[in-house]
Amino acid sequence: MEPSVSRRTLLGTSLLTPALVGCTGPVAPDPAGAPSDAESAAAFDPQDWDSVRAQFPLQADLLHFAAFQLAAHPRPVRTAIDRHRAGLDADTTGYLDNDVDLEEAARAAAADYLGSSAKPDDVALTDSTTMGMGLLCAGLRLGRGHDVLTSEHDFFGTYDALGKLASRTGASVRRVRLYDEPATANAGDIVTRLRDALRPRTRLVVLTWVHSSTGVRLPISRISAMLAERNAGRAPAERTLLLVDGIHGFGAVDQDVTDLGCDFFTSGIHKWMFGPRGTGLLWGRAWDAAAPVLPSFSMPEGPGRLATPGGYHSFEHRWAVPEAFTFHRAIGRARIARRITEQATQLKAGLAEIPAVTVITPADPELSAGLVMCSHDRLAPFEAVRRLRAEHRIVASITPYDDPYLRLAPSIVTTPEEVDTVLTAMAAL
Ligand SMILES: Cc1ncc(COP(=O)(O)O)c(C=O)c1O
Repeated sequence: MEPSVSRRTLLGTSLLTPALVGCTGPVAPDPAGAPSDAESAAAFDPQDWDSVRAQFPLQADLLHFAAFQLAAHPRPVRTAIDRHRAGLDADTTGYLDNDVDLEEAARAAAADYLGSSAKPDDVALTDSTTMGMGLLCAGLRLGRGHDVLTSEHDFFGTYDALGKLASRTGASVRRVRLYDEPATANAGDIVTRLRDALRPRTRLVVLTWVHSSTGVRLPISRISAMLAERNAGRAPAERTLLLVDGIHGFGAVDQDVTDLGCDFFTSGIHKWMFGPRGTGLLWGRAWDAAAPVLPSFSMPEGPGRLATPGGYHSFEHRWAVPEAFTFHRAIGRARIARRITEQATQLKAGLAEIPAVTVITPADPELSAGLVMCSHDRLAPFEAVRRLRAEHRIVASITPYDDPYLRLAPSIVTTPEEVDTVLTAMAAL
């Protein structure tokens, strides 16, 4: 394929300044009525939370405390999607000439966000966290006699991927309980429980950064340090690898993924990062341990590209990935994390004052992120969610686990004032 836009032009876009938000990619006709990139950029003040909120088309008369579940597209992302869609619709074959450069721009933007030591070559572009989990577990070179350890607090997608891995390879899969009461979880205890559950032939540990069952954020860096100590002196094929499902930390926590110390990291870009729906990434630094599973169309070669599933995709979404990172960076990763922590802390403190409510998620910001789970003495979570929406216009969600909880998630589309409204509503239930 002969790209019509130079690679240099496009790769440069991952480093766009805030003033250029929404200006990535080749020029294509704007769909009728859509604001131009220049208009979007001019209207957006990333330092003003009202202006940030105004970038989202989320219904104004609802309080969106489940916005993380699947991203609404902020204006720069929407504009980019519209532009690519219009280009594809107008001259599909001609616009597809840009695909290598546009995919590389998405990969470069993801690598840039993952941390200074992340290379674009090591980033596979996926549709979701689950796809990354599945691709890796399907390709890992494990065999009978190998052991895999996960936790009792992980997502059903992880258990399914590991069940398939066990059937394919004959490896055993075990689960360890990392805490008894989430609210009083303790980082040192978590690391100790995990370490004590390891076996000599444990080749893989699979954990979730922030549990969507309880809101507990695992001390991944400390776990990595413990594993690094254990791996010291071992041949690469004997090391214990760490795979992290990072979805509820990615875009919510102010930390470089490469500093977590894990070997593989899978995440959607379509939850806390508010990227295009149906986009995700799988990053790795130990690709020798896994074989590609699906045919790749990505060029040039490199482990992340080989792990990127080929075929034609809903490209307008994938190609709009750089705008999501640019939007996030323009607001500031640290500011976003602070905003989430501030609201989550306010919410947990307020909920703890309501006699009928029990807060499940740890109060400690170091052991939690934006997910806040609680239970109500008299109301099942489903009923609480129904009444919050029907009576108070508050959108909440339920944890999809055996012990379901009510889940409230402050983010960049909610405000401290709205948290107060939620607290008043919860007290009135
Ligand atoms: C911990 C966890 N991992 C993965 C997922 C699925 O994410 P994705 O839609 O990106 O596959 C969810 C929830 O949707 C989740 O809570």
